[in-house]
Amino acid sequence: MIIAIDGPAGSGKSTTSKLVAKKLGIAHLDTGSMYRAVTAYFIDNNYSIKNADIDAIMKFIDIEISNEVVFLNGEDVTNKLRDQKVSSLVSDISSLQKVRSKMVELQRKISLNKSIVIDGRDIGTVVFPGAEFKFFITASIEARASRRFDELKTLNPDITLDGILKQIERRDHYDSTRANSPLKKALDAIIIDTTRLSIDEQVNMILETINNKQ
Ligand code: DC
Repeated sequence: MIIAIDGPAGSGKSTTSKLVAKKLGIAHLDTGSMYRAVTAYFIDNNYSIKNADIDAIMKFIDIEISNEVVFLNGEDVTNKLRDQKVSSLVSDISSLQKVRSKMVELQRKISLNKSIVIDGRDIGTVVFPGAEFKFFITASIEARASRRFDELKTLNPDITLDGILKQIERRDHYDSTRANSPLKKALDAIIIDTTRLSIDEQVNMILETINNKQ
């Protein structure tokens, strides 16, 4: 069983997906963390998006995720994924078709013969258009920025709520207008607006939908 959960940054989709998977006793894959891992790899190796041979780089990339710990070519890169540098560059990296093709291939491989909750931007539209369950999680930009701010402020004392709001606005625009697999609701996805919902309420809404349909 594939449960696809898509939505913009800060909508609560990763936390919700993780808890839904836990309640159902099945696997969870946060595909945003895969694009972040590739971005950290570009930064660590000083690869430039404009000049690098993306095909050659992607050929040598393998990503494995175990209990939310992300390994890129065997190295644990989890701690780098929320760096501001990674957050600033990840939209550019994830807009490259060669990067996306490789990530989609890995996402299908990781999900093979499994029941899994998989969250991202293009799961219900591109990665698993035939998923048994599709959800599209949204929330107002103010709610999303304030959640991201709360998440990041202890780690990065220099950030401001306004800075995060502007970054999310830019990322929303970029993610939903890019040519390759833009963030888009699948026609058959169920919309959940989480602006006024707690995480528990989001999780329960999804679980109820799944239980009612089975
Ligand atoms: O969900 P997140 O903020 O960790 O995602 C990081 C970036 O990766 C975001 O800019 C959009 C991109 N992304 C994507 O293009 N496709 C996905 N399936 C998941 C994330």
